[in-house]
Amino acid sequence: MRWMMLVLSLAMCGAAGAQRDMALEAGLAKTPPMGWNSWNHFAGKVTEQDVKDAADALVSSGMRDAGYVYVNIDDTWEGERDAQGVLHTNKKFPDMKALGEYIHARGLKFGIYSSPGPRTCARFLASYGHEQQDADLYASWGVDYLKYDLCSFGTLMEAGIADHPEDPDYGNKMMKAAYLKMRAALDKTGRPIVFSLCQYGHDDVWTWGASVGGNLWRTTGDIQDNYASMTKIGFAQGPLAQYAGPGHWNDPDMLEVGNGGMTADEYRTHMSLWALLAAPLLAGNDLSKMTPETKSILMNKAVIAIDQDRLGAQGDRVSKDGDLEIWSKPLSGGGRAVGLFNRGTSEAGMSLKLSDVGVVAKRDSGQRPVADRSADGAVTGASFVGGSEVAFRTLATPWSKTASVRVSGREPARLHVTNVWTGSAVVDTNGVVTEPVPAHGVVLLRVEP
Ligand code: GLA
Repeated sequence: MRWMMLVLSLAMCGAAGAQRDMALEAGLAKTPPMGWNSWNHFAGKVTEQDVKDAADALVSSGMRDAGYVYVNIDDTWEGERDAQGVLHTNKKFPDMKALGEYIHARGLKFGIYSSPGPRTCARFLASYGHEQQDADLYASWGVDYLKYDLCSFGTLMEAGIADHPEDPDYGNKMMKAAYLKMRAALDKTGRPIVFSLCQYGHDDVWTWGASVGGNLWRTTGDIQDNYASMTKIGFAQGPLAQYAGPGHWNDPDMLEVGNGGMTADEYRTHMSLWALLAAPLLAGNDLSKMTPETKSILMNKAVIAIDQDRLGAQGDRVSKDGDLEIWSKPLSGGGRAVGLFNRGTSEAGMSLKLSDVGVVAKRDSGQRPVADRSADGAVTGASFVGGSEVAFRTLATPWSKTASVRVSGREPARLHVTNVWTGSAVVDTNGVVTEPVPAHGVVLLRVEP
């Protein structure tokens, strides 16, 4: 029996690995998914018109071109199943196929929502017992992304656990099998569909989410549109950094930027932290009514570039001193994004010693003069030879007025530091950058060789 279970579980792991590879081969979620989701603003009231408006606004605002391509309908689109078990939409969504076409016609991608249980979190019908039928239906609508939310499957797990007191992992096994089942159903449609697991971080999902074919997995309960909720989630994500990478991301939940519950500095903290975390960027506001400030926060290209950096590394906390925290994310090309966060309620000066950042300055070949190398003025210049720097001291000799003698090793080459939100260059003083950081705010830096 044990032997059979081992064979079964190895077969399941093999299948999951193959599915994950398939997802990556299809180019799914090579960088954290970006787009819009209906839940944070519209919740259960979302209608077809709201979704069309969001699609139009993604285009007209420039968000699509900044990378926000998924248009994801969350819970409450579902109607009843017919005699054949086919799920129909409710009257808020009269024609899902046509809506999918509307979205695709604008160069966007289409996302939908369900649960492995019999009901969704808002008590609408979900996929339990109809997984392949639902996957086929989504594919026929042109769906590109599925958020699969545990919800009522938890009740089935409780019953399973009660029936199997001998197996402490029974619930976890049920949950994994349920996600794997839908991944297999999606794959069987032949349509590349991003698979977003939502089970609020139970059972350390980051350690197995990729093995059941998840392209992203929620790591927390639901975010709310306030600074306390956003920071409680965001600043707790550091230990999960090792589990994120191309094709499989930690998801600290959707953005609240523009929903009105935080100040501009707080929303910049939200966006900066999510970018440093390589988090999916799913806007959760009403895109048809955005202030210029909201647009500037959601569409800062340099911030988005940090989130979407192709290295795909999630950042982590570097230091914490009371309310002041420094976080850093490795970037392709050897640079780093660094966030100076002030979680306190009054402005604070924060300093960053550049030698601590872990970026090695690039030494170009060819000549580069170095001035003021020593107090006595004896060093007159330095050259870069084959990538390593040589300094020269000027001496008088009997046969020539001057000669160059090699005297020292390397001159630290300068790092390039940019304030990401303002776009301006930051100047260091003796290798230290010091910036005023507003209350609940951030200074986001890009440090490059
Ligand atoms: C859960 C999820 C939310 C949202 C709602 C919909 O609470 O965590 O993100 O999808 O369900 O009912």
